Amino acid sequence: MQIRASKAAPNEVNTLLLAVCLYRDESAPQSLNAAAEDALSGDFSGKMGETALLYPKDAIAADRLLLIGLGDRAAFTHEKLRRTSATVAKKARSLKLDEAAFVLPVPEGSDTEEAALASAEGAALGLYRFTRHKTGDEDNVRELEAFDLILDESADEEAASRGAETGAKLAAAALLARDLANEPSNTATPEYLAQTARGISDRHGMGITVLDRAGIEEEGLTGLATVGRSAVNEPRFIALEHRKGGDAAPIVIIGKAVTFDSGGISIKPSGGMEDMKFDMSGGAAVLGTMEAVGSLDLPLNVVALVPSTENLPGGDAFKPGDVLRMHSRKTVEIISTDAEGRLILADALSYARRYEPSAVVDCATLTGACVVALGNHASGLMGNDEDLIAEVQTAGEAAGERAWPLPLFDEYTDQIKGDTADIKNSARPAGALTAGAFLKEFADYPWAHLDIAGTAYGKKGNAYTVKGATGTPARTLARFLMGRTGTA
Ligand code: BES
Ligand code: MN
Ligand code: ZN
Repeated sequence: MQIRASKAAPNEVNTLLLAVCLYRDESAPQSLNAAAEDALSGDFSGKMGETALLYPKDAIAADRLLLIGLGDRAAFTHEKLRRTSATVAKKARSLKLDEAAFVLPVPEGSDTEEAALASAEGAALGLYRFTRHKTGDEDNVRELEAFDLILDESADEEAASRGAETGAKLAAAALLARDLANEPSNTATPEYLAQTARGISDRHGMGITVLDRAGIEEEGLTGLATVGRSAVNEPRFIALEHRKGGDAAPIVIIGKAVTFDSGGISIKPSGGMEDMKFDMSGGAAVLGTMEAVGSLDLPLNVVALVPSTENLPGGDAFKPGDVLRMHSRKTVEIISTDAEGRLILADALSYARRYEPSAVVDCATLTGACVVALGNHASGLMGNDEDLIAEVQTAGEAAGERAWPLPLFDEYTDQIKGDTADIKNSARPAGALTAGAFLKEFADYPWAHLDIAGTAYGKKGNAYTVKGATGTPARTLARFLMGRTGTA
């Protein structure tokens, strides 16, 4: 789908569907009066999400007029704009149209570029569906080919085009993450993720290293090697390097990619276990982010690390009570083989030291406890550096992917002190925070951690997500990196 921006008077836009927004208790632009009068004669209040589809005959140039409520002008945000744009794009598609024009509303205090960005994101994200394993119901669906942002006379057209282009690239990052995460574990194996990373590396000229089982063992990535030991689909450790930042210290992003988490010997209950194909959502988001880093050609050094494995029981599987000497040389006593994510992340965190990074951000579907704490409405955000935590939180807010700070008090570190080994891999209560405290043991640079167990996928969508993977936090990470270039 092409997203374009141009200046025009709404009544003169020749399109199959023209979408015009109305704030609560405000009237339509004069030029649309003839077309919209009926709807505005009392039925349409302009509350957020309200829609009315009109056939204006010859009153305006467009064949159809879609009115959409935005609620109160002062309460209108980029997030509402994202959702509104998605609603427009989906409406056009459901009408089997191949184009739509959207008179771009700009939230107070924002500008045309940011508004165009959010709108492009919303339209592209909203149209997403995961259909590759559905047989034969594609023929009836017409895909939207053009989404035109209509700007008013005083707007900066170039800024709008720039914003739309960036928004499309950010959406593409999230859509790649969604595709990877939605893909079932019989196809989305660690090697499949490595192949995807190779594709990103080829497209954007990035460096890439993929360690196979032997390489992982040789490198001393014991956590990853141990979790992956009983898996027939071999583990991979993926390192993708974008080097466009000169001598600057790199920023490292890390994503947990357990392609299926059965829990291992500490096996999970079978009900809902199919959702554990999503346990590679962190790695998927990190790969999506790298796609955006490449397409935006960010002037930064960015390294993506994706430890990937299945977590399965077997005769060769690791067991509760086992002690591992991790990549960092710390020893870990296994309490639960289902607390596997932190083991593979710990190795990635200590591997990251070699880059002498200025900042490291990891993301992982790490704990059910985080879902208990925050539900599906925010990722848990922890770390060892208040400024970095604030930076990630701000990026999440800008992306419409909320992240909320949780504490890593020393008492949580006390909870994971080991009996037999230095530390243990699981402790309750406060499971999200003891997991964070565990990771903290391996991070000796500014570091932030996003627990996305509640946000990476969902049972129901909103205007711009569908059931399944959300792509979170790909756009957060991309925004965070854009912020590091001073361009956002
Ligand atoms: N992948 C799970 C966490 C998870 C749970 C993600 C629910 C999404 C939804 C993780 O590996 C896990 O099993 N965590 C355990 C940790 C416990 C054994 C300390 C958990 O949260 O129960
Ligand atoms: Mn687990
Ligand atoms: Zn897991």
